[in-house]
Amino acid sequence: MKIFIDTADIDEIRMATSWGIVDGATTNPSLIKKAVDKRGKITMDDYIEEIVKIVPGPVSLEVIALKEKEMIQQARLLYKKFSPYGDIAIKIPINTYMAEGMDEFEGLRTIKTLSGEGIPTNVTLIMNAEQALLAAKAGASYVSPFVGRIDDYVRTNMGMKRGVHFKKADFYDVAKVKRILENKILRNIKADDSIPQLYQSKDLQKILDMGHDDGVYGGLELVDKILKIYRNYDYKTEVLAASIRSSRQVRELAEMGVHVATIPFNVLKDMIRHYKTEEGVKSFTADIVPSYEKVFE
Ligand code: E4P
Repeated sequence: MKIFIDTADIDEIRMATSWGIVDGATTNPSLIKKAVDKRGKITMDDYIEEIVKIVPGPVSLEVIALKEKEMIQQARLLYKKFSPYGDIAIKIPINTYMAEGMDEFEGLRTIKTLSGEGIPTNVTLIMNAEQALLAAKAGASYVSPFVGRIDDYVRTNMGMKRGVHFKKADFYDVAKVKRILENKILRNIKADDSIPQLYQSKDLQKILDMGHDDGVYGGLELVDKILKIYRNYDYKTEVLAASIRSSRQVRELAEMGVHVATIPFNVLKDMIRHYKTEEGVKSFTADIVPSYEKVFE
């Protein structure tokens, strides 16, 4: 599995790269906004150039336009400006629709054009497997399913509020949610309910709809479904799991065989820690005898 770092903070990028585990980096306008203060006096162009030079693999940079023509121009510009310094992938939202009357296929057409020109794309804001299928057909190099945001969405559907019932980093337990839903359903079934009655029951439908997003019970399950579809048809598009909140998610993504996980700095730091490792280092250090020390002189 390739590991990308999900940040535009140059200090975090430098540090994680020095650990020897970084294969790429992903940015978005919100991550750039967070990093702006770190930039000091240098221009944004120079700042991005620096990032591209540091990272030993593709750096994803996002366009800011919403229409095909402008997105293509911006993608070409980003590619021309920064590809001389390293690998670049241009982030294109799968669908730039924001309001009535907007075309929902601007992103898809942009991906097709860029892929024809050999400009690598990272198709972002992937929230379902259907979008990922279309992106692969259009020639995307990477698709970015947003694992954490789908978990948030499903939890919100269940009436949970971030900050009240769960923190951003809390792991979303699909098995637990399925058990909760099963119990709720069982409690709502009366002994004399017939199958057609149950099938059409609005109350049961409400319960069923709570714990998932159109058949997907969580962000990790979404990634699994996309991987399955790509394997079925041998698509070359790589699945780049994004919006990761915990080290356990990274492990489960690796178990699934995801191509890339883009990981925030704090999650990378969590991955290296274990209480028993710390305890072991302490006890080994305490047991060093002088004769063994002499070996190193
Ligand atoms: C990738 O670069 C995505 O934009 C990013 O992982 C989104 O993460 P978030 O849901 O924590 O904002």
